[in-house]
Amino acid sequence: MRAMCARIRMVSNSDLKDILEISRQIWGNHDYLPSVIGDWLKDLNSYTCGVEVDKRLVAVYNLRLVEDGQTGWMEGLRVHREYRGKGFATALTEHVIQKAEKLGVQRLRYTTATANEASMKLAERFGFAITLEMSVFWHPNLKASPSPSDFPSIRRSDPGEIHKLLQSSLSVMPSRILFYDWKAVDCTLEGLKEVGKSREFHIALREGELTSLSYGGLRQGLEQSSWAFTIYAVDSTGFLAHIWHNIAEASRRGVSSITGTHEVNFEKALQRANWLSQEYWTMRMVLLEKILRQT
Ligand SMILES: CC(C)(COP(=O)(O)OP(=O)(O)OC[C@H]1O[C@@H](n2cnc3c(N)ncnc32)[C@H](O)[C@@H]1OP(=O)(O)O)[C@@H](O)C(=O)NCCC(=O)NCCS
Repeated sequence: MRAMCARIRMVSNSDLKDILEISRQIWGNHDYLPSVIGDWLKDLNSYTCGVEVDKRLVAVYNLRLVEDGQTGWMEGLRVHREYRGKGFATALTEHVIQKAEKLGVQRLRYTTATANEASMKLAERFGFAITLEMSVFWHPNLKASPSPSDFPSIRRSDPGEIHKLLQSSLSVMPSRILFYDWKAVDCTLEGLKEVGKSREFHIALREGELTSLSYGGLRQGLEQSSWAFTIYAVDSTGFLAHIWHNIAEASRRGVSSITGTHEVNFEKALQRANWLSQEYWTMRMVLLEKILRQT
């Protein structure tokens, strides 16, 4: 850290005002940090640290132990706009890695948008590898309509059933990683149950085999709620059927804005879908991983 009088320390409730100030200028005031910081500070599995300059908190980072303490999930890295480019994110990342090493964590993980240059540079500097790339799209206003007749029928499911079906359906979700809300967990029964706390699962089968799967839930925004979902499928028909299905799920709840995460090979199918021709944005997200010690 180049700035004078800067020090890294743990964050406490007395920093909330400074954290809100950091968040206020991020992503058009749509940053999720204000809605989760209270939980992080109470959570025994979270280590929330930050950079203080002249008695003011100007940067924050959270390390959360998940998957029985084997994975250190890194999230919420933020540096106040006026303090960027001074190496604070670099220093905090280094600090968090050292903390994770002390805690005996096996691997560190985080997600970021590939367009986030600073975040990608940090990954490279500290030896994080890209484990998986996914696509994310957002649409502000989609209305449900009857689904095409060639779409497979989709029904509700649960973590136990999906876990069983996945044993014999190897081509659905070859990565065996569950993405949700810019987070990721391994697709174990525990991982499925974790996702199931905030998401509903839906599946389609062909001759008893799982051919597509999605899970969605409401994400409360400051101004607008959206239906956030993830899709895994063996083909684009199954993929599009789940998009359609999730639009209907959103509509059922009076929500028209949707955020979808999916495997990158379905980007073309999404672009070709004429019912999605209005303005929407799309980006790539990567899961970055650093192995600290072998199992
Ligand atoms: C991303 C963020 C945390 C970086 O904080 P920072 O303190 O400015 O970062 P640092 O000064 O430590 O720089 C880290 C690296 O990124 C580079 N970098 C910083 N800002 C950059 C930018 N806007 N564009 C390209 N590279 C950038 C730096 O040059 C440095 O790379 P180097 O070591 O190869 O020189 C900060 O911009 C921020 O809070 N952004 C909004 C929230 C966000 O995107 N968080 C990450 C989500 S995963």
